[in-house]
Amino acid sequence: MTDLKNKKSIVIYFSRADENYAVGYIDKGNTEVIAEYIRDLTGAELFKVERKKPYAKDYNTCIKEAQIEQERNERPEIVKVLPSIDDYEVVYIGVPVYWGDLPQPMLTQLEKLNWNGKIVRPFTTHEGSGLGNIPNQLKSICKGAEVLNGLAIRGASVRSSKDKVADWI
Ligand SMILES: Cc1cc2nc3c(=O)[nH]c(=O)nc-3n(C[C@H](O)[C@H](O)[C@H](O)COP(=O)(O)O)c2cc1C
Repeated sequence: MTDLKNKKSIVIYFSRADENYAVGYIDKGNTEVIAEYIRDLTGAELFKVERKKPYAKDYNTCIKEAQIEQERNERPEIVKVLPSIDDYEVVYIGVPVYWGDLPQPMLTQLEKLNWNGKIVRPFTTHEGSGLGNIPNQLKSICKGAEVLNGLAIRGASVRSSKDKVADWI
């Protein structure tokens, strides 16, 4: 297998701090912890997708907001758009599973990029859904890319999962 670790890579991720299902109020989201492990292990650059109007800090309000947005298939505005991934061969895409799917702000970003010839490595944090429907979604969004097997880590165990991430890489 080709050495994915040494290819020029970027991690595009979404992650929400504030009130979390399993770990209470957190300063840094679970997915961001994994994104930073990948950066430490591979030298990848990081790009964080941020919703212009953040979801509520309160967990129950947030899940309702995200559900409505998903049912309406919205593309919420994001703080900064990454214009291109031309400089990278490998793109790690990291998200919390939201109702089985990608959070909608990731769609806003991912649909703007040219995926031709890229290698995509998905990872999720979750509370039981694993990778959910995310690999399927990425296969349809990232046209012309090869979507490899993903890594799914439970929110409550991200802070002790660096070895697991290293094995996957
Ligand atoms: C809006 C919302 C929807 C969620 N939906 C699911 C789900 O369908 N399946 C699941 O296993 N976890 C679900 N979760 C739990 C998150 O995926 C999990 O807590 C994740 O680690 C949060 O990552 P973050 O801290 O990087 O934002 C949901 C959480 C939120 C806020």
